[in-house]
Amino acid sequence: MKKSLLLALVAMITFSTFANGQKEDGKIVIGANIYSFADNFMNGVIKPELETYAPSKGVEIQIVDSEGQQAKLNDQVDVFITKGVDVLAINLVDPAAAQAIINKARAAKIPLILFNKEATEPGVMDSYDKVWYVGTDSAEAGIIQGQMMVKDWKANPSWDKNGDGVVQYVLLKGEPGHPDAEARTVESVKAFRDAGIEVEQLALEADPNWSTVHGNDKMAAWLTSSFGSDIELVIANNDGMAFGAITAQKAAGVRLPIYGVDALAQALTHIADGEMDGTVLNDGVNQARATVDLAINAAMGKNVTEGTNWKVQTNGTKAVRVPYVAVTKDNYMDFK
Ligand code: GAL
Ligand code: CA
Repeated sequence: MKKSLLLALVAMITFSTFANGQKEDGKIVIGANIYSFADNFMNGVIKPELETYAPSKGVEIQIVDSEGQQAKLNDQVDVFITKGVDVLAINLVDPAAAQAIINKARAAKIPLILFNKEATEPGVMDSYDKVWYVGTDSAEAGIIQGQMMVKDWKANPSWDKNGDGVVQYVLLKGEPGHPDAEARTVESVKAFRDAGIEVEQLALEADPNWSTVHGNDKMAAWLTSSFGSDIELVIANNDGMAFGAITAQKAAGVRLPIYGVDALAQALTHIADGEMDGTVLNDGVNQARATVDLAINAAMGKNVTEGTNWKVQTNGTKAVRVPYVAVTKDNYMDFK
């Protein structure tokens, strides 16, 4: 065979296998992103699990950093589609911008798994039969965190510093508009009211990056503010922000009751050291695994939960929701 003919053949085969969306070796390729590699939980728990679990299932995963910019993510999705990935696993930057991503996937006939940030536009998940969500039940973290705080509040009368029976709290919210941030903010405080305990919000600050720097800055500012000495409780919607608040408290020589969400390794250390009172396990390992399992099945045109233990909820959104778990000084050892 002539060399030129051989080259043409190779090119043809390569082109057709790529056009099919699968690599020459038939391996499934998942095109994935993380909304920001700077996020403690996403970068520390979800990303490493995606990176190890996908190859263990015989598939390739490519993960890009969207750097907190939805426009960047839109471009990254275009690039994945042009490359011919078999399935997309997308962590929205803006939870209100799912439709654009869904439209791209649908136009390219590629299945789409959204994970960690649930789409907030109504009906958007029904606009494509090959889109699913993997995450949690956002409210559950707030409910568990709230119940934990109520129990401790009742057990520690000295926490009510001014003795008025009301919980004077400050709250580190996280990303405004993010279903997790919104639901946690409502539910944690509601747990007190449900238990017949009055609450008073002294301050609340949001941060799209859920960051430690933000937690530190806000806590430091609150402690030196006019209400600084009135604060009786610090509610952080994630551990990352709580870490910053702990540092600020240490710098100011105070130790206020403080709770987070995620159960990152550093949170377990803070609990062990008596610097933090509780957190809620956000099971990123299982969220990452569910994302990969659903992606593989979807890429193969199978029922997304086939051969797995995941359950897609039947009422509401097509979603797999991984449960949260309370983590306190009594059980943190189990999560090390
Ligand atoms: C939440 C998590 C936060 C942050 C956020 C990003 O579930 O608790 O720490 O990672 O996801 O979307
Ligand atoms: Ca009080």
